Amino acid sequence: MNGNLKLAVQKKGRLTDKSLELLRLCGIDIENYSERLVVSASNFPLDILFLRDDDIPEYVQDGVADVGIVGENVIYEKQTKSSVLEKLGFGKCSLLMAYPEGRELKNLDDINGKTIATSYPRIVKDFLLKNNLDAKLIELSGSVEIAPSLGVADLICDIVSTGNTLMMNKLKKSFKVFDSQAVLISASTNFKDDEKNSILNDLLRRIRSVLTARASKYLMMNVPKNSLNKIIKIIPSLKSPTVLHLAEENMLAVHAVIPSNKFWDIVEALKAAGASGILLLPIENMIQ
Ligand code: PRP
Ligand code: ZN
Repeated sequence: MNGNLKLAVQKKGRLTDKSLELLRLCGIDIENYSERLVVSASNFPLDILFLRDDDIPEYVQDGVADVGIVGENVIYEKQTKSSVLEKLGFGKCSLLMAYPEGRELKNLDDINGKTIATSYPRIVKDFLLKNNLDAKLIELSGSVEIAPSLGVADLICDIVSTGNTLMMNKLKKSFKVFDSQAVLISASTNFKDDEKNSILNDLLRRIRSVLTARASKYLMMNVPKNSLNKIIKIIPSLKSPTVLHLAEENMLAVHAVIPSNKFWDIVEALKAAGASGILLLPIENMIQ
């Protein structure tokens, strides 16, 4: 026991790289993690435990890890005692019903009497109950997508992210059961150990700054002096833009932080108003 905060992340899968990328953006360096179960960060009091994602809620509940990064799908399925500290905005996916090409599944009622293979029996049972449906469930811990071709099930209910797995197995998307993304969970926000609380608060502050920064971009451009007012009206900036003089008399530089998703809506209007040399830069951290 070294007093470090213990963070569980998925050992190998959809969330692994993005979880480590988030830590990197938080300024936390992890070296040489390949094939190791526990790795300590070199510049932050954090131990990273690489575990199967399905086991993470339980390890967090039992205190083996203090916090964990895992999909909402797994948390809902496992129903362990832990609370979500922050939604992380990556690992977005849906739990969907899917059926083999050449068959049909038009109405929810068509699910009645069918056999569904899934790794998420609890979520699927809730869905069936809520929709007043009756189907047989087969619980599989992996490779759910091959169940229909083996003749074990009529349908599957599984996580779909890019859709590649379904396509490769000649399965078609059907009803959506659950939407999910990666979240940071903890069994307690108030550990007995004060030191741990302060490490967790520091980590949370850093994560929140990365998430805010991700939702924003830094916009830079040159504008003719006489279009300044027009340009400022177009920019969806929360704060007043920065205006700088340029060596060229009649031109100004305008800088502003804008919501990432607004850029393509305004770029043509900016050009039409005379803006040139438009640059859009990512922001790594944003402290508010
Ligand atoms: C899910 C699911 C598929 C894959 C779908 O697995 O079981 O294998 O992701 O992704 P795609 O639509 O991008 O092809 P998950 O990442 O949850 O891993 P696990 O089943 O090993 O826990
Ligand atoms: Zn899993």
